[in-house]
Amino acid sequence: MITTKDLTKVYRSRGREVHALDSVDLHVREGEVYGVVGRSGAGKSTLIRCVNLLERPSSGTVTVDGQELTALAGRGQRAGAPLRRARSRIGMVFQHFNLLSSRTVQRNVELPLEILGLSGRERSRKALELLDLVGLAAQARAYPAQLSGGQKQRVGIARALAGDPKVLLSDEATSALDPETTRSVLQLLRDLNRELGLTVLLITHEMDVVKAVCDSAALMKGGRIVESGRVADLLATPGSELARELFPVGGEASGADRTVVDVTFHGDAATRPVISQLSRTYNIDISILGAAMDTVGGRQVGRMRIELPGAFEENVVPIGFLREQGLQVDVAGPAAAVEQAAGSGLVHSTGLAKEGDRR
Ligand SMILES: Nc1ncnc2c1ncn2[C@@H]1O[C@H](COP(=O)(O)OP(=O)(O)O)[C@@H](O)[C@H]1O
Ligand SMILES: [Mg+2]
Repeated sequence: MITTKDLTKVYRSRGREVHALDSVDLHVREGEVYGVVGRSGAGKSTLIRCVNLLERPSSGTVTVDGQELTALAGRGQRAGAPLRRARSRIGMVFQHFNLLSSRTVQRNVELPLEILGLSGRERSRKALELLDLVGLAAQARAYPAQLSGGQKQRVGIARALAGDPKVLLSDEATSALDPETTRSVLQLLRDLNRELGLTVLLITHEMDVVKAVCDSAALMKGGRIVESGRVADLLATPGSELARELFPVGGEASGADRTVVDVTFHGDAATRPVISQLSRTYNIDISILGAAMDTVGGRQVGRMRIELPGAFEENVVPIGFLREQGLQVDVAGPAAAVEQAAGSGLVHSTGLAKEGDRR
């Protein structure tokens, strides 16, 4: 539904060049909720602004719903009619709501409909319908100042839906809201995604948001997408940085001559007593250093950091046992480098290996 190819954006300010986007290939499937995460300055906002061409990319293409926006006529503000039309099918929700304080809630939602040239009666009907959809029918005549943050964002969402978009873009829509309001706004986005078949591309710096609503996610760093995929697949990818951030498990080895491994449980494996089986089978004492459990896409997923006595070489067989049980096992700490050097044939994260190198 949204595809960018080799998307690049270079800002030039005061003689300096900032490569805000560096060859970004993004692919968002129809009907999914796709989350982009990353630190401040990673290029997330630039990416979303390039997707609806609020920002003109320096090079590369943007295709939304089969239409290549970058090929449509018009540069910047002088964008032509075809681009304007295509853009009206892309809704956008902002962190600070961007409501007009002098207009009522209803008239804020009507704004894009005025631009689309609908009659007064059509505008009113459509705006009330949208306000009903976001649960704000009773506030139609209120002014933004009379609303809570969560209500303001619901107005922002209703306004974004005015052009019957197939795609909704959201740039940190919940980061000005408290956790409970965040949850209810996310639930609304999720419901709209399901009920209207709306494809949602959202930017966030909160991993909880990704866990709660996203089907897929991408991690951005320095203008590049460094990891992307379905959340459930990422969790099953050895060494995935996103998986580690979604399920942070802390804990350091309690001493030398210990092997620390991160075990990821999915589906069935999450409910089997594999750790006690491991302990009994090999007669070893296992310490749990950290653990996190959650539900992703309706499936139980968990991560656990455990410590086995002895160096990595002594634990090759127990680690093999865990992998045979269908668990994903990432060797952490210095042992990761040892395992890699041993060429065990299993892929390991550069992240984990680097961590090991440093110690
Ligand atoms: N209009 C602009 N002019 C110059 N540099 C910009 C502009 N907008 C963003 N940048 C720079 O581009 C980089 C990416 O910014 P941004 O996309 O806002 O990141 P994020 O949303 O991930 O925090 C940053 O280094 C930022 O300073
Ligand atoms: Mg931003």
